[in-house]
Amino acid sequence: MTTTSPTSGSTTSPAAAAGTFTIGGDLTVNRLGYGTMQLTGPGVWGAPADHDGAVAVLRRAVELGVNLIDTADAYGPYVTDALIREALHPYGDDLVIATKVGFTRQGPNQWIPVGRPEYLRQQTELNLRNLGVDRIDLLQLHRIDPTVPLADQIGELKKLQEEGKVRHIGLSEVSVDDIEAARAIAPIASVQNLFNLTNRSAEDVLEYAAANGLAFIPWFPLATGELAGEGTPLAAIAAEHGSTPSQLALAWLLRRSPAMLPIPGTSSVAHLDDNVAAAAIELSDDDYAALDAIA
Ligand SMILES: NC(=O)c1ccc[n+]([C@@H]2O[C@H](COP(=O)([O-])OP(=O)(O)OC[C@H]3O[C@@H](n4cnc5c(N)ncnc54)[C@H](OP(=O)(O)O)[C@@H]3O)[C@@H](O)[C@H]2O)c1
Repeated sequence: MTTTSPTSGSTTSPAAAAGTFTIGGDLTVNRLGYGTMQLTGPGVWGAPADHDGAVAVLRRAVELGVNLIDTADAYGPYVTDALIREALHPYGDDLVIATKVGFTRQGPNQWIPVGRPEYLRQQTELNLRNLGVDRIDLLQLHRIDPTVPLADQIGELKKLQEEGKVRHIGLSEVSVDDIEAARAIAPIASVQNLFNLTNRSAEDVLEYAAANGLAFIPWFPLATGELAGEGTPLAAIAAEHGSTPSQLALAWLLRRSPAMLPIPGTSSVAHLDDNVAAAAIELSDDDYAALDAIA
């Protein structure tokens, strides 16, 4: 395993070391991003135990060159949008905030999709207001609501796009058929599905995204921490190479596809530093194969 100069992207910041991806043809981001879901209370409900620590993590992410930040109205709800605004507003020109609508919350760990157009519109308006922006860079439908026609859900997001309130539309936790059905209604720029070294059930979606120019944003890139820290299946290989398990899990994702934009979550500045350093790790073929075999 070597830490080498990147072959693409800017070399000015740690997050840039894995190169860039251009979302929807006009939004270029460093491929290693950050997901905010760990910055809430337990069960993704309420405020974080350490408010100032959460603000510090967001500021550090941007300092490290992270310019793709994933959030959702349902995180808290509204907690992470407010933290992003507090920590980072006014936003730099190159910062892409990807948010989501379509999940309602009844309490800790409870998530129910609601895709009625008036609700998707309301939540888009609330995301705009809470984030303090005029237009959402990437608005992802958190889940397709099976009780509402897809044309009504994607159709409403398209209307919001035509009104200038949304730049790009993305999907979350979908099949290839879902993506194709959505693309028949509106342009789709990204897909966000569960994917990591030990859970590759969305491989077909990844392949489809890469072949069709969509960003693939893997959620749970560290398997909610099971691939990070000591005692993970990656610990032995990491020790041999002077890396950390989370870095190897992320380096494997980054090498797996040029369309891959991991958004590891953490509430710790030290873990963030650890994770972002993964962007500079270039796996040899043997290392990649050894990691691949762990799954
Ligand atoms: N679209 C969807 O439906 C969906 C669903 C889930 C998540 N997401 C998005 O995906 C993002 C990533 O998912 P996630 O945050 O749930 O899971 P994750 O990134 O797979 O793992 C996060 C967990 O790993 C730990 N961790 C992170 N870096 C570490 C390190 N270097 N060393 C040791 N432990 C480390 C974190 O604890 P510490 O806080 O202690 O670091 C946390 O418990 C979320 O933040 C969210 O933006 C989307």
